[in-house]
Amino acid sequence: MNLILMGLPGAGKGTQAERIVENYGVPHISTGDMFRAAIKDETELGLKAKSFMDAGELVPDDVTIGIVRERLSQSDCEKGFLLDGFPRTVAQAEALEEILSSLGRSLDYVLNIDVPEQLLMERLTGRWVSPTSGKTYHTVFNPPKVEGKCDVDGSTLIQRDDDKPETVKKRLEVNQSQAQPLIDFYSEKGYLKNINGNQDISKVFEDLNELLKGLHA
Ligand code: AP5
Ligand code: MG
Repeated sequence: MNLILMGLPGAGKGTQAERIVENYGVPHISTGDMFRAAIKDETELGLKAKSFMDAGELVPDDVTIGIVRERLSQSDCEKGFLLDGFPRTVAQAEALEEILSSLGRSLDYVLNIDVPEQLLMERLTGRWVSPTSGKTYHTVFNPPKVEGKCDVDGSTLIQRDDDKPETVKKRLEVNQSQAQPLIDFYSEKGYLKNINGNQDISKVFEDLNELLKGLHA
């Protein structure tokens, strides 16, 4: 199961990744999560990524491609992987082809979660995440059982630094400009599957699951 989850900021990549991992056990590789962990640990990678992320810009391709190359060569990816938020540029997609071919692997699906852009600001500014379990909530669309606390480990939920309205606006602009060339790239290769992300979280997962069940058959 070699998968890519694509979609604009707030489309629901992380939310659906939680469910795919729970049901299929593939490793979840989110470049955004890897950068946030590096920033928290104050590593060299974190230092490189921070200014770009705070500005809502993309981290340069060479940095991003490097961490994915290293991660995909780890042994837990032998049975498959779920990339979330990578690739985000055609240069990254081309580099991924080269990485996968060097590992003797190929993609199954590129799952593009499609949501009208005007819904994304509300999704992102209402998002709360657990700093320990990584689980994602929304004040209206996916509230925790106890306000402000994670259902899994009771940790106090936090908001992401880049979910401030001005930064969200910039992230949407930057990602929107990269989205179509990437959609065309994967569509031409026959990997692209569009998923309607403008429905309940559980219904989006049902649609994804229909496709993924087919992979197992
Ligand atoms: P990243 O962390 O990947 O952020 P993003 O792409 O902006 O996407 P998000 O994580 O914000 O959204 P999501 O689609 O995961 O939505 P979620 O499920 O949380 O990247 C952050 C930064 O890192 C980038 O800006 C860039 O600087 C850098 N970076 C990362 N990868 C890079 C790359 N490849 N190249 C260069 N730079 C890179 O859902 C959002 C909210 O909506 C939640 O509150 C959720 O509960 C709610 N929700 C989800 N689904 C639904 C639904 N169906 N209905 C209603 N609400 C829903
Ligand atoms: Mg995410």
